[in-house]
Amino acid sequence: MKDSTPQRIHLSDYTPPAYLVDEVHLTFVLDPTSTRVKSRIAFRPNPDAPGTFALHGEHLDLISASIDGEPVDPAFTEDGLTLSVPEAPFIWEAEVEISPETNKALEGLYLSNGMYCTQCEAQGFRRITYYPDRPDVMATFTVRIESDLPVLLSNGNLTGRGDGWSEWHDPWPKPAYLFALVAGDLLDVHDTFTTASGREVQLAVWVRKGDEHKCGWALNSLKKSMAWDEEVYGREYDLDIFNIVAVDDFNMGAMENKGLNIFNASAVLASPDTSTDADFERIEAIVAHEYFHNWTGNRITCRDWFQLCLKEGLTVFRDQQFTSDMRSAPVKRIEDAILLRSRQFREDAGPLAHPVRPESFVEINNFYTVTVYEKGAELIGMLKRLVGDDAYYRALDLYFDRHDGDAATIEDWIKVFEDTIDGDLSQFMLWYSQAGTPRLTVTETFEDGTHEIILEQTIPNTPGQTNKHPHHIPLAFALFDPTTGAQLGEEVLADLTEARTVLRHEGLERKPVLSLNRGFAAPIILDTTSLADNRLFALANETDSFNRWEAARSLTRDGLISLATGEGGPDDPYFDALAGLVQDDTLDPAYRALILGQPSQDDIAQAIFEAGGTPDPLLIYRATEALRLRVAQRLQDILPALYAKMQVHGVYSPEASDTGKRALANRLLGLLSRLDGGTAAQIQFDRADNMTNQIAALHALLSIDRGQTALAAFEAQWRDDRLVMNKWFSAQTGTAAPEAAVATARTLTEREDFDWTNPNRFRAVMGGLIANSAGFHAEDGAGYTFLADWLLKVDAKNPQLAARMSAAFETWKRYDADRQDLIKTQLDRILAKDSLSRDLTEMISRIRN
Ligand code: ARG
Ligand code: ZN
Repeated sequence: MKDSTPQRIHLSDYTPPAYLVDEVHLTFVLDPTSTRVKSRIAFRPNPDAPGTFALHGEHLDLISASIDGEPVDPAFTEDGLTLSVPEAPFIWEAEVEISPETNKALEGLYLSNGMYCTQCEAQGFRRITYYPDRPDVMATFTVRIESDLPVLLSNGNLTGRGDGWSEWHDPWPKPAYLFALVAGDLLDVHDTFTTASGREVQLAVWVRKGDEHKCGWALNSLKKSMAWDEEVYGREYDLDIFNIVAVDDFNMGAMENKGLNIFNASAVLASPDTSTDADFERIEAIVAHEYFHNWTGNRITCRDWFQLCLKEGLTVFRDQQFTSDMRSAPVKRIEDAILLRSRQFREDAGPLAHPVRPESFVEINNFYTVTVYEKGAELIGMLKRLVGDDAYYRALDLYFDRHDGDAATIEDWIKVFEDTIDGDLSQFMLWYSQAGTPRLTVTETFEDGTHEIILEQTIPNTPGQTNKHPHHIPLAFALFDPTTGAQLGEEVLADLTEARTVLRHEGLERKPVLSLNRGFAAPIILDTTSLADNRLFALANETDSFNRWEAARSLTRDGLISLATGEGGPDDPYFDALAGLVQDDTLDPAYRALILGQPSQDDIAQAIFEAGGTPDPLLIYRATEALRLRVAQRLQDILPALYAKMQVHGVYSPEASDTGKRALANRLLGLLSRLDGGTAAQIQFDRADNMTNQIAALHALLSIDRGQTALAAFEAQWRDDRLVMNKWFSAQTGTAAPEAAVATARTLTEREDFDWTNPNRFRAVMGGLIANSAGFHAEDGAGYTFLADWLLKVDAKNPQLAARMSAAFETWKRYDADRQDLIKTQLDRILAKDSLSRDLTEMISRIRN
């Protein structure tokens, strides 16, 4: 791989396919190491784009090939084969052999715990058979599976089955990335859903024996999603059957294959004793996400992979709306903002920054990012704000009408909105092409009753992009009376389109207090240094729940920065305000839990760096501990009673209200354990009858280094449950003291049950360590060497997994020269390795630059 520079693919080079496919027939004769795949594909030349005939194919052993029944001898290329073919419709037939058992990349057809399954997005189908593996080639699929295994599934409807075989037909033309096959000794938990027009759909969740009792929540989430998409978007399901399968070894969360969604077991299996409230919420959202893809992704797919955000940004936005409706909208918005700011803003500020619609890539799997997904979703939210709810839903109807059955582009998407509002959105399009988080600097003047808000917009340089144009930003704001605390008039939406905007308000008696970017409606960084004094006011008077939380967040962050840079930390008014909010029973407990939360150590490091400083991970860690202790001490008198009050009695329910109480109770437990040496946490651990409380108690104990007994008890109880044990692994690397973290991770990786070919297990240990900032960034560089060693090892088998984890190095330029040198050494060591994957090569090269 070293000497052949991997090929870079550019959006601007797009050309339509030279040959189109009408119908695909596949026959699989399954075998662990020598599965035979026979294909019969009806091709016809694309009249609009004449060109040569080429098929993708990787890791395939071609047994035979023919055209219209005549054997042919294709020429092999780097990524497949080519052949001269008739300039008229023809039938291509081929037989290939593949080896699912040795496929640890988990792309294409592979074996997971004795079960055959597939992952074809983005380009896995080419590991199954020769095919034009690109999303703008859509065809109907008929699939025959031959195997002794009892359950044989593929897309669409079951058209026949017998001893050792089954046949499936999917009437909806689809790109190859939506193909799926599953075969195994599986059980199903089923139900039905009747659509608005009266179609009865058979729903089933397929799992391995022993997991049947963990399917109910996903099944229920599926039904809620189906009803919601009918109600809110008017979208009905379009087959008689919808299957979900849980797979132990899976690179991502889940996959929206037509009628046969395949899920990481962690994203589908749920029970109160093994899953946390957060797991329940995540499963509900992922089930919804994959289901929603049926319209935004499958019925309308992407022309090419540069348009990935067309389906992902929109589908994330839809699943966020769904969760807001099922649970609490303000809480959901804050959770999404936390994720966006900690992960996407970080990505956008570093060497891996790329536009929501990238312009080139080497390996598309490296672009399933928080930028494409989460920033992509934010763009939809902004569009909705700009055009208004009514126009938004009309535009969506037009989108479904106009593009059903298409492989579409972002231009198509924006055009639908332009046509709906009869306006020009070309400036808004810049959000798709310019990387980097816009920064809005805010200053104010007040004179003779006139208040001016001066907003200056800049977008930082990012790799390959400088001198950016201002974005079209919908900025929601309101003014408050400084003396009464009352909001002055309605919330206003300002359309910022220039680098500098002045908002003027006249006839005011006093200088008002500003509330900006309400609801966090625009994914930007507000530089409000000049408004810092407003935060305590906001805690008391804000009418926007996001901005009220934001005020607390900002004060906490500044307090941590102050502590980490050797200053005194927050003062009394902060603690008093916090105490007031935590006890305010008019506030949702979930919201109060968020108010009590701290930004991550990584967020603080980024903030210090952006302010021109050099973050010291150890000092940041100590600051977070010190602040927790101070908060605990300040709340000392109210902690036990409030903790008791937040206990939920009776049957466990994962719905928002109980979840919120547990979230607050467990936040308080974390504080309590700082004062009582872990007594309350140990009691909670011993009595816990659900995983939320059990794992929270374990975390509380581990955080104060009193967790050894609980850790052993937990292991004894759960050693046979892979998913629960992942929590046990990550709890340890995540909470280890900075000086012990790498050693803890190393010890865990030496265990028999550390199966690193299982992505969930690998991520549990490594992700926990990386999140443990001060541990990962240990001064001697042990964390860096440890991660690099593992990346090299994992890359040889599962490049996607290694490439994702390598992003832990993306922040390296924040740190001091010594740490930078240590990291650089590791990056260079990785790059020097022979036969490094295309995935990891691209990632490390981008990070290194
Ligand atoms: N489309 C899937 C989703 O719902 C993600 C699959 C990505 N897989 C991959 N190997 N890149 O978001
Ligand atoms: Zn998706």
